[in-house]
Parts: sequence; structure tokens; C-alpha cells
Amino acid sequence: MAGGWSHRHLLDLQSLSPDELRAILFLARDYAPIADRADAHSDELRGKVVANLFFEDSTRTRVSFSVAARRLSADVVDLMGPGSSASKGESIGDTALNIAALGVDLIVVRHKASGAAANLANIVTCGVVNAGDGRHEHPTQGLLDTYTLAEAAGRLDTFDMSGLTMAIVGDLATSRVARSNIAALTKLGARVICVGPPGLCPRSLRTLGAADGSCEVSHDLDAVIAHADAVNVLRIQFERHAPGVPAAEAAAAARSGESPGPARTGGAVSSGREYRELYGLTAERAARMKPAAVVMHPGPINKGLEMDASVADGARSVILRQVSRGVAVRMAVLRLCAAAATA
Ligand code: CP
Repeated sequence: MAGGWSHRHLLDLQSLSPDELRAILFLARDYAPIADRADAHSDELRGKVVANLFFEDSTRTRVSFSVAARRLSADVVDLMGPGSSASKGESIGDTALNIAALGVDLIVVRHKASGAAANLANIVTCGVVNAGDGRHEHPTQGLLDTYTLAEAAGRLDTFDMSGLTMAIVGDLATSRVARSNIAALTKLGARVICVGPPGLCPRSLRTLGAADGSCEVSHDLDAVIAHADAVNVLRIQFERHAPGVPAAEAAAAARSGESPGPARTGGAVSSGREYRELYGLTAERAARMKPAAVVMHPGPINKGLEMDASVADGARSVILRQVSRGVAVRMAVLRLCAAAATA
């Protein structure tokens, strides 16, 4: 199997070995020239069908998987929760069984329930790729973040991340992105420091590192900012803290600087102004980063709350690079899982 990879599914990064992570990242590096060019493609998945089943909203991940599959010449089927028979009460399992019965080779699934992708993998015969399941993992985001940091730090030859430090800042308690980043980066030798207020960044995160001490927790961003090679800022996921309140409304309430009240933000922030002062990646804080350190964010960004717009769009930002590298990483994941499914 290519590069030692033998899995039909990609469900998480926590269970992968460093060699398996590197197998994906090396193949992504090979695909990068194709991923970057709209007029380039490979024939490796010609005749295969990839179905995107997105039961939660997405811009970057869904489009990126579609572009990745097309770059490999696969046929792509897009199915979103709204507009599907989920509205008639069909379960995600029955939806997936029906999609698989149509001759699909790979299902890419996003769902609000942690473990949804693993549950599907147990009942369908085709490959399953997790595009984000609840608070559990978002493995391709963890991989593309790792790739982007490796590229910025000149580590594409080995993906040995030792000596590098990533600070993951903000709402880690509900973050599948954080879990996948911590798994991948610490397995490849990096140091990860989780930073945020105690309610959003619990001490229990320390147990997620691959080795003792490889994942730390701090509640003091100013003490950490000058030591990181990458500051990966996370969105406050208001939809998970205050179900029923539109996330955009909760973010606007927090950004207003007033105390928005726990009903509107689920208590995630007591005051947007205070959150920005203590944990926002402001222009002033970004100026205290190491000279070559980069700013990352998985998107979408609550600009003016967790990160200043001038930082998101500034010289240190590799945020759009993360998005474009997502195509190469997802090409690698689709290719490896499809090859394992037919082996
Ligand atoms: N980073 C990420 O998962 O973005 P989307 O929700 O837009 O896919």
C-alpha cells in the first residue's frame, strides 16, 4: 500500500502513527503543483465517485473536497442536510447506506454528532472520510494546518516538526480542529501550547498530546506569544455554546463590546471587549511574535473579536495558504483511502 497506508477510512488523527501522517503529507506535497492549478489534473480517481454528505454548514472543507476529487478526475456528488431526505426523518445511517448503494466509492461526511463518521464506517462498505464530527476531530484540517506550518518553517522535506511550537488560542473546549492539530503536531515532534480562558481552554487538554508534556495549557497569551512559531487562533463556536442562537448574531453581540448576556453567547464570553483584550490576536500582540512566526486560523473568522482584521489580512497571515493547501491534503487523503478500499 502507498507509503505504508492501509486504511479505507480517515476518521481521526489520534489513532494514526507518525509514519501514516507522513504518508499523507508527503503525497500532499507531491500533489501541491496540481492542486494549485485549475488546468491541471491527475487521472488516478477516474471512474470513482466521491459523495460529500454535509449535515453541518461548511464553505472551505466542502468546496476543497470537491476541488480535490475533481483534480483527481473523480465524479463528485454533493448532498447537504437541508434539501436531503434528512428533513423527512431519514437517519444519517440510512442516508449513507442509500448513497453507498448508488455505487459511491468514498463518502466524505460532516455532522454535528461526535463519532458520526465512525458510525458510518461501521455500516457502509465504501470508504469514509471525516470532514468534521461534532467536538471530536477534523482530521483534514489538522493535516492541512500541519502542512502549512511545515511549509512556512521549511520542513517539507521531512515533516519533522521538532523544535517548532504552535500556540492554539481561543475556544479549544469545543474544538475538533484543536484535537486534530494536537494529535498531528505532537506525533510529529512539535510542542503545542493551548491558550485561552479556563472555561474555553481546560487543563484536561494536556492529556491529548502524543507524549508527556508535548501539549501544554496556559491562560496567559501574553506570556506565550513571543515563543510560538505559529499562532493558530480558533473561532469562538457560539453555535455550540448557545444552541438556537444564530452564531452570527452571537458573534455580533460579543463584538459589540458590551456584555452580551449568557443567553446570547452561552456564557462563552462575558464581554467581547474583555475577551479581545485578554485573548484576541490584536495588531499589538502580533507585533510581539517571533520575526518569522505565522498567523493561522481555520476559518471562518470572527474579525475584531478573536483576531483583528489587520492581522488576518496582514503580512504574517498564512490563512489563505491553509485553504489552498487543503486541496493538496484532501487529494492525498482521497487517493490513499480509495486505493486501500480497492486493495
Ligand atoms: N475550517 C473549516 O472547517 O471551515 P468550513 O466550516 O468553512 O468548512
